[in-house]
Amino acid sequence: MSTHIPHHEHPHAQGAIVHVSCVRHTYPDKTSVHLCGLDFVVQPGQRVVVLGPNGCGKSTLLYHILGLLKPEEGEVRVFGVDPARQFSKIRERVGVLLQNADEQIIAPTVWDDVSFSPRNYGYTEKEVEQKVNHALARMGIEHLRHKVCHYLSGGEKRKVALAGALALDPELLVLDEPFEGLDPASRTEMVELLNKLNRESGVSFVIATHDVQLVAPLADFVYVLKFGGEIVAHGTPAEVFRDVELLRATNIEPPVLAELFQRLEAKGYHLGRPVTPEEAVKTLVAWVERERDGAASSVVTSLLSQHGSKPAAPAPATEPPRS
Ligand SMILES: Nc1ncnc2c1ncn2[C@@H]1O[C@H](COP(=O)(O)OP(=O)(O)O)[C@@H](O)[C@H]1O
Ligand SMILES: [Mg+2]
Repeated sequence: MSTHIPHHEHPHAQGAIVHVSCVRHTYPDKTSVHLCGLDFVVQPGQRVVVLGPNGCGKSTLLYHILGLLKPEEGEVRVFGVDPARQFSKIRERVGVLLQNADEQIIAPTVWDDVSFSPRNYGYTEKEVEQKVNHALARMGIEHLRHKVCHYLSGGEKRKVALAGALALDPELLVLDEPFEGLDPASRTEMVELLNKLNRESGVSFVIATHDVQLVAPLADFVYVLKFGGEIVAHGTPAEVFRDVELLRATNIEPPVLAELFQRLEAKGYHLGRPVTPEEAVKTLVAWVERERDGAASSVVTSLLSQHGSKPAAPAPATEPPRS
């Protein structure tokens, strides 16, 4: 976490694929969103989460990245261009999943929908077929290709929309609340699919969410927004979750693990700040084992002090049996 540095001097802005610097947008009813405080930067291959309560300005930030809104103040760069002026130059490099995935699905069948962009880009029939197959395979939904979208489950619809976003093989995915309304199993599956895309194809993403539980499994880097759009913190999930008070002040309920280990620390147990259940289990097991060994050695020490300073040695074999 750091204070604001002008964008041209920004330490992580070198080679960035997205750079948003102190952008302001005023909606027609005079609601002003000022995305300032820290620069918003995405590096190639990075998984970035925008975390903040409802209404803080996450979608407004994403709309600027997508060139759907034009900043009144400040600057936006995506792949080196101003998306509000030249989005057509970068359109193929950016995949989008808007907040309401249902509205984004426009065609009657899965195949029609996922093939929409490649068909509109003038690819040959064979190329379109290839691109659609590849996108469906990446989402693991080849079996849905002839289905009517209207009858799909929420999780399936989300995957279809994502396959559509992937059809042109983008380098950057911009996802607005992609887990909203999904049941826990579909949510976990979606997190795994996104991580796999990043791991195997190096796709970067910017994901807006208000769900703290999804940050650690999904993010290399997190930006925390508060109401009005101010970017109040950034860092790895572990760094950002250290400051439980800041999260509270931002109207975000800190993750249970962050709170647990902060409270243990306040009681003098400095166990670090694991952010995933796996890390927490490792930390706690190591601690319990240390404590147990410590307790065992303190029993030995107290026995020694009761019986003089010599270590307890086996009784000499020559000692006569007691009567
Ligand atoms: N079209 C709009 N007209 C007026 N106010 C809007 C509009 N869209 C968003 N806002 C307001 O701008 C602020 C930020 O909204 P938004 O970016 O959608 O937040 P988030 O995505 O974090 O929930 C909120 O106060 C919201 O009410
Ligand atoms: Mg939103």
